[in-house]
Amino acid sequence: MDFQKEYDALRGKVEAALAQYFGADKRGFRFDGLMEAMDYSLMAGGKRIRPVLVLEFCRACGGDVDAALPVACGIEMLHTYSLIHDDLPCMDNDDLRRGRPTNHKVFGECTAVLAGDALQAEAFGAILRSHLPADRRAACAEALADAVGVDGMCGGQYMDMDSETRAMSEDEVTELQSRKTGALLTAACRMGVLAAGGTEEQEDAAFRYGACLGAAFQIRDDMLDELSTEAELGKPIGSDKAEGKTTFMTLYGAEKCAKMVDRLTEGAKEAAKELPESEFLCELADRLAARTH
Ligand code: IPE
Ligand code: IPE
Ligand code: MG
Ligand code: MG
Ligand code: MG
Repeated sequence: MDFQKEYDALRGKVEAALAQYFGADKRGFRFDGLMEAMDYSLMAGGKRIRPVLVLEFCRACGGDVDAALPVACGIEMLHTYSLIHDDLPCMDNDDLRRGRPTNHKVFGECTAVLAGDALQAEAFGAILRSHLPADRRAACAEALADAVGVDGMCGGQYMDMDSETRAMSEDEVTELQSRKTGALLTAACRMGVLAAGGTEEQEDAAFRYGACLGAAFQIRDDMLDELSTEAELGKPIGSDKAEGKTTFMTLYGAEKCAKMVDRLTEGAKEAAKELPESEFLCELADRLAARTH
């Protein structure tokens, strides 16, 4: 298997499909500015890890990758909404994202808030309007709702804001991470299985892979916030410190964080090996553990 070729092929499908939603050819109305803001952040690049996970889990479970594309696009829309809101002055107050000025810097705060709101609704719309069997569409939408609401990303983001005002324990930071980042990455894996109509055992393996990958991913993100450069990362460094957050780096330091990432990556690979095909997913976990952006 040529990992990079496979990743680029899946990513290419996602890029082409995403471009169909809010591009210039869809405009010509009084709310053009809103669509332009949505498209600006959605098409700014990004690693597309969540949609690639959807498609790869679908493929590994014998599903039709092209039929799952709207589900993959939906989760990327949702993720993009979370980034637009995460960067707002009232949240992390960041000026750079995916190598471009943040949404509110270009379009203003009100439009940025609405672009995020609309991307969230369109995410569910994309999934529910797909041509998958109705029960699979519903299961994917429910998995996404669980990953984003109080028990997921929004609950985690709320705890993250709280971490700016008081010191947090190890358990609290672990819970914060599993909600704000782990939930959506875990949902991506599960949604791939659900789109394929996979078994409960496969869904369970996807859950464990996603949970380990998600934890490793956020620890690495916290490391890069201190150790990388703005040019490499495409977003500002030192943002966590500037906001006074408790992160894995403040709790454990770089060396221990690196060890935690390695241990979690092994956990993810063990879970992947329970699936009919795991080579790509194992390589992906290794690459994300060593990522520099
Ligand atoms: C950034 O996610 C936000 C976190 C959950 C840490 P990514 O690192 O996947 O960002 P993009 O999509 O590649 O820009
Ligand atoms: C963001 O965590 C998680 C989201 C839900 C968007 P961070 O605030 O650490 O993400 P970056 O570093 O800005 O991408
Ligand atoms: Mg944040
Ligand atoms: Mg942030
Ligand atoms: Mg970060």
